Amino acid sequence: MDAGSKDGVRSPKALSIETHGEILMIGRLNHIAIAVPDIEFASNQYRKLLGAKVTLPVDEIEHGVTVAFIELPNTKVELITPFGKNSPIARFLDKYPSGGIHHVCYEVEDIIAARDKLLSKGATFLGNGNPKIGAHGKPILFLHPKDFQGTLIEIEQS
Ligand code: CO
Repeated sequence: MDAGSKDGVRSPKALSIETHGEILMIGRLNHIAIAVPDIEFASNQYRKLLGAKVTLPVDEIEHGVTVAFIELPNTKVELITPFGKNSPIARFLDKYPSGGIHHVCYEVEDIIAARDKLLSKGATFLGNGNPKIGAHGKPILFLHPKDFQGTLIEIEQS
């Protein structure tokens, strides 16, 4: 299911790159997630109009979403739609009924180190700040959109 790792190719380690005197923490773009009201329809649009390879939808019960992956050469796009009554994306779709970009996910080498550094710089995490295991079986955290120009950012340990 994790299309990004099947070829085993990894970009150079981002941690060693210096930018403006700061250590760059984020690595590859793991995925972009798009919330959609109808995942079958959306999957078919990507297949038919863009010729994309889209996996069949899978219910992620513990995350309250159904997910289909658009597999691209350099990353993936996740189509997500609510699953169950308390889906974390239900409110987003109430606000944007036709769907829209929900979050972007960057890889980090060490999620605890990344969290602690971000906290020390004043960033805010959603929830209690303890990583959860995400849809790819890896630890994840979400950063509050208020610190990033309205964009919800997920970090995932690579
Ligand atoms: Co995600």
